[in-house]
Amino acid sequence: MPDPLRIQVVHGPNLNLLGTREPDVYGSATLEDVGALLEARAKELGVRLASFQSNHEGELVEHIQRAVGEADGILINPAGLTHTSVVLRDALLATGLPVVELHLSNVHAREAFRRTSLVSDVAVGVVCGFGVESYRLGLDGLVTHLRAKGA
Ligand code: DQA
Repeated sequence: MPDPLRIQVVHGPNLNLLGTREPDVYGSATLEDVGALLEARAKELGVRLASFQSNHEGELVEHIQRAVGEADGILINPAGLTHTSVVLRDALLATGLPVVELHLSNVHAREAFRRTSLVSDVAVGVVCGFGVESYRLGLDGLVTHLRAKGA
């Protein structure tokens, strides 16, 4: 049996507040609920997950740097940093790992500044607009991509 694929899940700023933060936009599920949903899907897919959330850009960069050699791919909701962070983009690129970007909300149907992403063009794919299901869809997409590559 080959070793299971390892996926690093990264949650950006303010996602620790899921469930109470703008529930009309982001829904009522908490970050813990997202973790449980992802773990259940990971079990079905036969992959291993590690998850990390931070409200600090530098901590996110350091954690992403540590994914090299520890993970086969990165599933990330960069939250507000999606639209602003060159350093997050550079950190993702530096890993050389396949990245899937996801958002709970449809960022294209909101304020104009949310239509800009500094991550999308370095990601293998992007999922947005399906609430917590975006996480499951993103994980499925990343695992499908890795398996197609023969990882
Ligand atoms: C978000 C969308 C971002 O624009 C926003 O800043 C977030 C959450 C989403 O999941 O829909 O914090 O990434």
